Amino acid sequence: ARDFTIAIDGPAASGKSSTARAVALELGFGYIDSGSIYRCATLLALRHDITDISAGAPDLIDLINKASVDIKFQPQSTRSAPNLITGRLPVPDVRILLNDEDVSEEIRKPDVNRLVAKVASDGGVRSAVLGIQRALARAAETRSKSVVGKEGVSSVPGGVVMDGRDIGTTIFPNAELKIYLDASAMARAIRRWDEMNSSLKRAKPPAVPATAENTPAEYPSVEDIARELEERDYADINRQHSPLRIAKDAIVIDNTSMTFEQQVYSIADLARDRM
Ligand code: C5P
Repeated sequence: ARDFTIAIDGPAASGKSSTARAVALELGFGYIDSGSIYRCATLLALRHDITDISAGAPDLIDLINKASVDIKFQPQSTRSAPNLITGRLPVPDVRILLNDEDVSEEIRKPDVNRLVAKVASDGGVRSAVLGIQRALARAAETRSKSVVGKEGVSSVPGGVVMDGRDIGTTIFPNAELKIYLDASAMARAIRRWDEMNSSLKRAKPPAVPATAENTPAEYPSVEDIARELEERDYADINRQHSPLRIAKDAIVIDNTSMTFEQQVYSIADLARDRM
């Protein structure tokens, strides 16, 4: 069987990353989080005080071209504690290495969230990131293999799942399966808030009692998150270079009132039907 590419696109916090990772685990595929590469580019910009992207960003593009980005998908290490969003389905961990430094936590921080859509709107940045994306995806792709079972020798396809904004439209226009994952704005804000709070609590317990003065800026309200997601989606939909669009041949899944299991298994089944 041929190798298989699944593209999962959609607005911010629609569950693309958790879904893509669980689908990759279910099918034995590799996984690439394309947003994390734009987040690494944004971290480079912040660390080098490049915040004016409007003039084109030759210094930033230079930094991206020299950088090494690695996405370590760890199917054997899954988040064990059931959580509100994912329920009981295992979701493998992913670590992001930028120039050999683990930046997995840092690239999810509010200052990166605020700047990333701006950085990703630049055409030069996008073409610098494009090469990294395709190379990482090809390296992550699992290979098809033959297995011996009751019915004799059969072939299990290999493949890769990649999530982002323009995977089905620009990066892998020939992907065998394209999913556009959406959810209501409020559902997305609540899920992102829950995710941020649970990871922050694991990292450092908040001071008690929490007051406006001692609540760190990393603890945004649901309203703050809804506003930030809305701004980011607006920028992603309205930019000139590969804006967020539903690919013509994509299957739209609105998961507002679906369980995590339902959406993971329906995507895995769609893939199996096409293999
Ligand atoms: O998926 P994530 O929220 O981490 O993506 C962060 C940002 O990176 C998006 O808001 C978007 O601006 C940019 N991005 C993109 N194209 C992709 C993936 C992400 O422009 N394929």
